[in-house]
Amino acid sequence: MDRRAGLPLMRLLFIGDVVGRAGRAALLAHAPALRDRWRLDLVVANAENAAGGFGVTEAICDAFFAAGVDAITLGNHAFDQREALVFIDRQPRLLRPANYPKGAPGRGVAMIETAAGAKALVINLLGRVFMDPLDDPFQRVDEELALCPLGAGCDAAIVDFHAEATSEKQAFGYYVDGRVSLIACTHTHVPTADARILPGGAGFVTDVGMTGDYDSVIGMAKEEPLRRFTRHIPSGRLEPALGAATLCGVAVETGRDGLARRIAPLRVGGALAPTEPEFWND
Ligand SMILES: [Fe+2]
Ligand SMILES: [Fe+2]
Repeated sequence: MDRRAGLPLMRLLFIGDVVGRAGRAALLAHAPALRDRWRLDLVVANAENAAGGFGVTEAICDAFFAAGVDAITLGNHAFDQREALVFIDRQPRLLRPANYPKGAPGRGVAMIETAAGAKALVINLLGRVFMDPLDDPFQRVDEELALCPLGAGCDAAIVDFHAEATSEKQAFGYYVDGRVSLIACTHTHVPTADARILPGGAGFVTDVGMTGDYDSVIGMAKEEPLRRFTRHIPSGRLEPALGAATLCGVAVETGRDGLARRIAPLRVGGALAPTEPEFWND
């Protein structure tokens, strides 16, 4: 018997790296209305760049939660704002990567109960290719999914796999395929066009894309990155670009088995062409 046969259908939205004031403004402007319009069960946002491009503050977390975000994930910039080392321990829905060394503040996994009473597991992990060498994310996800299998321990499971290399992201996707509802990959700040359902039923996208001003170099005002690339000498701070942001997300509907049955990208506002999960517009 398939013990995963009777799970609630759920509508999930994952919002990619929110960058600076422009990204925050887009999230705060759009998230509440999107949540209402599509009757979303769960909204997760990556906020590792939300505070001036580097890290997150508690005030930003509170504002995102008030705007209808259920859980916040981070990445390699998790602790750029030093206050996060302290407040993360009192914010159970704020996650830093689960493969940080043992003893790091905060947690990398949360169980979110939705308004309808469903249970959604959210996991944040960092890749290791072209990034700091943390614990093995493949082993860490095994440990977490053994503790809380889809269907037995939760009704949906979402992993934010925050990594640089597309190869590592895709390998990770196949590794957890069939065991989670969605692998939303982040960090490279440009949406990829491959949102799809993997053979085992997990939704996957190689990069959700940032929620920020795309008239920029991965969210930062162009001038300083250009100076660094052309002169090879840093001559100022990297500052988030302040033009209108595109909110980038990936939308997934889960089926009775907790796996993805529909997936589509979401892009709203700013410089990128808009797109929506049409299957929710009926
Ligand atoms: Fe980022
Ligand atoms: Fe990152």
